[in-house]
Amino acid sequence: MFKNSSQSRRRFLYIGLSSLAGATALAVVKNSNPMYLSHALDNPKRDFQVAGLASLSKRAAAKGLIYGVACGRDVLASDKNLQASIVRQCGVLTPENELKWQFVRPRPDVFDFSRADWIAGFARTHNMLFRGHALVWHEQLPEWFKEVVNRQNAEKFLVEHITTVTKHYAGKIHSWDVVNEAIKPDDGLKSGLRQTPWLKFLGPDYIELAYRVAAQADPKAMLVYNENGLEHNAPEYEVKRTAVLKLLERLKSRGTPIHALGIQSHLLGDASLNPKKLRNFLSNVASLGLKIIISELDVTDQKLPSDTVVRDRIVAAKYEDYLSVVLDERAVIAVLTWGLSDKYSWLSKFGSRSDGAPVRPLPLDLNFKSKLAWNGIARAFDKAPKR
Ligand code: XIL
Repeated sequence: MFKNSSQSRRRFLYIGLSSLAGATALAVVKNSNPMYLSHALDNPKRDFQVAGLASLSKRAAAKGLIYGVACGRDVLASDKNLQASIVRQCGVLTPENELKWQFVRPRPDVFDFSRADWIAGFARTHNMLFRGHALVWHEQLPEWFKEVVNRQNAEKFLVEHITTVTKHYAGKIHSWDVVNEAIKPDDGLKSGLRQTPWLKFLGPDYIELAYRVAAQADPKAMLVYNENGLEHNAPEYEVKRTAVLKLLERLKSRGTPIHALGIQSHLLGDASLNPKKLRNFLSNVASLGLKIIISELDVTDQKLPSDTVVRDRIVAAKYEDYLSVVLDERAVIAVLTWGLSDKYSWLSKFGSRSDGAPVRPLPLDLNFKSKLAWNGIARAFDKAPKR
């Protein structure tokens, strides 16, 4: 299914890992038989009616929330339909890849902001906020990184990178994912920290350092810790939630300038939610005085039946059910989906289907028409308590 080993590795990281959470649900419905699946997950009688024609952004704003998407520069620059849909539906925009080291720092001594600036300009022109992703991550590092960065110079590179990039957008950014995906209990460390080059070179304090440097360079930006897998229901994810909470507690107790948790929320269409555990986690985060951003929401239909009517209904229900739980927590201030139209979802590559059918994980279809997923999100916004 995947062309090379790096693709399949990524699948493991993003989809495979979370599929583990789905494994229980799949086991119950036996052999992923589509009939069983639709029977177990689909409710043909469920009503996804939405009142009025207001956009997602307007519905969110009515509750004091922000709605927006991640988007790549090339597709946005070349597709007028995408532009129009984003302008209509969104209040915040984040570059899907353009601010990752790989793109923003093509050489050790060169920063290239041209692609991210284009997206920032588009956001500004259309009165949208701009959100930054991600300053410190173990993925999508440039080729030169492993040749050049070592224990002796890692701090210099980290500080220089965060300072330069955050200064470039100072005063123009809503929030920054300062550190992304630093927790992975499976890596076996007592702290729960993921084994990354940053941890190897700088030790666990690299996280605190990153926030302090970002706050110094841009004292006004909201500084976010962004993490995946926090919404899944299998026991290993309870361990992960606990480890993240511990990290946040520690950062707060040391006076680290951190303001929000980003919960990626790459949901699995075929897995169950645990509203109680999730709600409890959100309360615990909020009680630390942190805001919460649902930062990369989508619903993979990788293992759902091929019938698009059934598939869309299951995906829509997942959006509505998930958002209904999380928006009940008033510390949640924003929701971003990882893309707007199925035409440009990372899941076409990282969560493709074995029947070869195009994936349908986002609010709009390939032709930018809204699907039931859009209704699911709209309904959750309409029901949400006001901030
Ligand atoms: C993904 C992008 O969508 C892809 O285009 C890219 O090839 C790989 O990264 N978690 C994150 C995001 O924090 O940066 C990832 O974005 C999706 C998972």
